[in-house]
Formats: sequence, C-alpha cells, structure tokens
Amino acid sequence: MFKSEIRYPIFILNFKCYEEAIGENAIKLAKEAKKIVEETNVTIAIAPTAVDILNVKNFFNFVIAQHADPIDPGSYTGHIPVEAFKKAGVSGILINHSEKRLQDNQIEYLIKKCKRFDLTSIICGKDPEECYKLSKYNPDIIAIEPPELIGTGNSVSRYKPESISKTVELVKNFNKNIHVICGAGISDEEDVKIALELGAEGILVSSSIIKSKEPYEKIRKFAMIIKEWKS
Ligand code: G3P
Repeated sequence: MFKSEIRYPIFILNFKCYEEAIGENAIKLAKEAKKIVEETNVTIAIAPTAVDILNVKNFFNFVIAQHADPIDPGSYTGHIPVEAFKKAGVSGILINHSEKRLQDNQIEYLIKKCKRFDLTSIICGKDPEECYKLSKYNPDIIAIEPPELIGTGNSVSRYKPESISKTVELVKNFNKNIHVICGAGISDEEDVKIALELGAEGILVSSSIIKSKEPYEKIRKFAMIIKEWKS
C-alpha cells in the first residue's frame, strides 16, 4: 500500500499477540478484514505479530509492523530492523506504542528510516502533550492512546474525549499534514463516530475486535461508520 493510496479516515487493527490473532487465527482475521476492505473501500491496515506478516502479506496489501528495533542490520540477536520489515513487504510501522515505548532518539531514528524506505510512520503518544512533542519528527500519523484505557473497553472517545480534540488542535497547529488518529478502548460504533466527530482521522483498535466472538461483524460495523462519515 503506497502512502498515496491511503484514504482517511483510516482503520488500523492491531493484532497484538492475542491467541485469537496469531498463526492460523491471524490469517483468518486478515481474510475477514480483506473482505470488508473490498465491501466498503475503507482503508484498513492490520498489524499482526512479526512472525505472521509473511503469512498475511500474500493477500492483504496494507500490513504494518507493531514495532521495529532501532538498529541497522548487523550482529544483533532477537532484533528486527526496519530493513527486514521492508523486505517482508510491510507498508508501515507503529512507533512508540505504549506497550513498546522508545526513547526520543530511537523514535527519531525510526522516523528517518521510515522516510528512507517510504514506509507510513505511525507514532503513538500517551497524551496530547507527548503527541505534540513527538509531532516535531513529522510522522505521517500520530495516534493518541491513553494507556490507562487500553484493553479496558472504556473508550478514549467517551472517557477522555478532550485528549482527542486537544491532540488534533496541537498537532494540526504544528503541521496540518500530520494525520491524527486515536485508540484505546474503542468498542462500539458510537465510539468510532465520536472519535471522528472530535477530529480524529482514524482509529486504532485491538481487543474489542480481536476478543470478539464475531470479529467480522465488528470490523464491518466500524468500517461502515467510516464509510458513512466519508460520504
Ligand atoms: O494499538 C491499539 C491498542 O493499543 C488499543 O487497544 O484493546 O484498547 O483497542 P484496545
């Protein structure tokens, strides 16, 4: 997926490393997401574990890495550099997710690598102030995700709506070309709608879909809100 092909609002589904989203489950989820992309024409990106990327890349064209190690290729054990993800065919990288925090210099290094390899960079921040601080690296996307809401089902839309609107205000004042998305606890269509109404140009979702008994239906419902928003 080239950056120019991305249509906002964007929908990023983070598989994390839930049992329901690894191995053959990752392939099943990716196939369901693909059907919904085809049905709705909404831009959906999936972030499987590193080991599942090649399995889903064959049929899903917007795969992003959950993290990349801030190193050059070389004598490192158990690390994965941006170059390896690029060769595996990813289109983007999540950077500084609250479950994989990085130092500023590491974030800067990864942003430079993403620009060099034309990968979509998504920097995550825990509050509007951090998102504003990190926007100086000019990523493609900034994602506001209050860590205390992640995985709780209490959505950023309903429980910390001001964090979305404040992040949009601060980041857009700095650089209007940076897209602001939000995540943490997004669980139903109303959460998606509120996020978009607050100025978010997309959502970052995990547990409410991955842990759902009907993930296909949930992905479809969220995608339809985005589709209706665009029309
Ligand atoms: O990357 C998105 C993720 O951190 C949000 O998690 O489970 O609250 O949707 P969740």
